[in-house]
Amino acid sequence: MDTRINDIQGVLKKYGQEHLLNHYATLDEEHKKELLDQIENIDFELIKRLYEDTKKEIKSGQDDITPIEYLDKYKLYDDYKYYENIGKKAIKQGKLAAVTMAGGQGTRLGHDGPKGTYDIGLESHKSLFELLSDGLKEEEKKYDVTIPWFIMTSRENNKATIQFFEKHRYFGYQKDKNIFFFVQGELPMIDTEGKILIGEDGLIKQAADGHGGIYESLLKSGMTEKMKQMGIEWVFIGGVDNCLVKMVDPVLMGIAIDKGVTVACKSVVKANPKEKVGVFCKRNGKPNVIEYSEITEEMAEARDEEGELLYGESHILCNLFSVSAIERMGANTLPYHVAYKKASYIDKDGKLVVPDSPNAYKFEAFLFDAFGEVDEMAVLRVKREEEFAPVKNADTVGVDCPKTARELYKKFYNIV
Ligand code: UTP
Repeated sequence: MDTRINDIQGVLKKYGQEHLLNHYATLDEEHKKELLDQIENIDFELIKRLYEDTKKEIKSGQDDITPIEYLDKYKLYDDYKYYENIGKKAIKQGKLAAVTMAGGQGTRLGHDGPKGTYDIGLESHKSLFELLSDGLKEEEKKYDVTIPWFIMTSRENNKATIQFFEKHRYFGYQKDKNIFFFVQGELPMIDTEGKILIGEDGLIKQAADGHGGIYESLLKSGMTEKMKQMGIEWVFIGGVDNCLVKMVDPVLMGIAIDKGVTVACKSVVKANPKEKVGVFCKRNGKPNVIEYSEITEEMAEARDEEGELLYGESHILCNLFSVSAIERMGANTLPYHVAYKKASYIDKDGKLVVPDSPNAYKFEAFLFDAFGEVDEMAVLRVKREEEFAPVKNADTVGVDCPKTARELYKKFYNIV
């Protein structure tokens, strides 16, 4: 044990993180072991680099941004049926799986518990998880096939998520047979001096590594291997917070198969040029998403000869990947984006500090940063009112909140 501690102390000294063992002696045996395991798993070089990056000015405007081609689902005319038939065949052959990303903290919504357990206020009081499972089961019936459901949680919400599913008998799914849970990766949070924080439990304060962690987590948890064993070739990946998400779409699948692309994404047209959403584009010739903070006013307003916005296709986290594309994307590390957040921690005197303003950096990878791994992908514009009802904010904010999602859901399903 002494050599282990000595080795760890050496590493901590090298990176100026000696404080991580300040309260080691006060921990019970189980926590002591966990803390040492955690420290050994930290990539201190990465943390050092990420901290240095927080001090650098973000240079934008260096990339060559150009519009990306897209298809409009409702302007496919005769091709609609053509693509649909190709997709239907693959779905019936059991080649599709669904992945729901449910590892986010849902801080804007402010719900106490995993976001998927949130009741958006329908008469049925169904949770987001149940609404998603309803949609999936409906499609399974339609195609007379099982569509395995993979759910990504975080260390923070994994237990509560599984307990919720247990309570609801997995909404008819069979655990480890056609519903699978896997936990996403994490990164330590650091303060403004670059010091890693210690949480209330005396362990390293970690935070989920963003929805971009999906690829690596699918790989590391063995889920992609499982998918291949099950004969899955295509995986729809969506968020937990869109109660109109259409996870099974034969047209999208048919387009991907017919065009020979390994990634096919859905978009909805921007509500107006100023809407704060990321939009599909090409960056240095490769598919990508440009964030609203990055786009110039001139680009945001630019239109083609038919009057359509050149950068008008919003990314709505509704993306289809081949299993091989996921494997490729998971093999490479994505860039991390920094967020400045409030995080309670134990200070050097062992006291709990609960800040009332942001005090710590959290690092997240974004799913769309991996799009550049492929040369071409398909973008399919769908109708917002049919497929996009996000629950992001509390009702007081008034947009993308339970009230707006509920209204869209009721309208779509004709519920009075
Ligand atoms: P958001 O970016 O909207 O984040 O996630 P969020 O955690 O739900 O909410 P805020 O920003 O804290 O208010 C979009 C989707 O990606 C998932 C979320 O669960 C949601 O389905 N996600 C996000 C993860 O699975 N893991 C993450 O680390 C981040």
